[in-house]
Amino acid sequence: MATKLRLGVNIDHVATVRNARGGAYPDPVRAARIAEEAGADGITAHLREDRRHITDSDIESLMEALTLPLNFEMAATEEMQTIALRHKPHAVCIVPEKREERTTEGGLEVAREENRLAHFIAPLRDAGCRVSIFIAADARQIEAAHRIGAEVVELHTGAYCDLHAEGRFDERDAELEQLTKMARFAHDLGLEVHAGHGLTYDTVAPIAALPELMELNIGHFLVGEAIFLGLEASIAEMRRIMNEARA
Ligand code: PXP
Repeated sequence: MATKLRLGVNIDHVATVRNARGGAYPDPVRAARIAEEAGADGITAHLREDRRHITDSDIESLMEALTLPLNFEMAATEEMQTIALRHKPHAVCIVPEKREERTTEGGLEVAREENRLAHFIAPLRDAGCRVSIFIAADARQIEAAHRIGAEVVELHTGAYCDLHAEGRFDERDAELEQLTKMARFAHDLGLEVHAGHGLTYDTVAPIAALPELMELNIGHFLVGEAIFLGLEASIAEMRRIMNEARA
């Protein structure tokens, strides 16, 4: 099952740098174009409730300008559903969102909110969006995502990456083992499996090697590394490591 692993480049933090000063520079659409040249297969952008990075007009510009598919990350709110239904992006990834968090800290609690989420995603699916649910590598959440009619689950790699960064290698390996098992479990249920959050050059290879994965979504590290290498080189290196791990 050696399928090509897609790379979705998350450009949120290009907008973070822009918003630090206001104005139009650096432009996330320009970043998206460079990402495509560097080997990205899709662009990911998270319109947060507080608009701290990507804005409504960024989504409009991306929808107009992009040739790559847009993966629109959003919380399960009515406001976001309306925006998604207006733009009909290729994919919608439902993520949990708390105003005070710095980033998306955990996966979505699907099991507890099954009914609401099933109703929430139905119109998005009807509009032709591929619906993905961002969850922890947990069988209960995966089964719930499957039951509500999601086509894709994105497994949260944040804990695995944090444990690596903290040098807690035994726990990191246990988390990797759980991600490995749950990628297989989700795939066997018929779900398309993606992964992301916190991935770096140091942590991506074991994840990219999991044969059930179809897509990784990576942002913060790539934009950070672009300061040193340039965006095209930063993405191209990630692509190279992913290809090597898959081969
Ligand atoms: N996948 C999802 C669902 C996310 O919410 C994020 C962060 O917005 C990412 C992937 C990318 O994470 P990072 O920016 O840490 O690479």
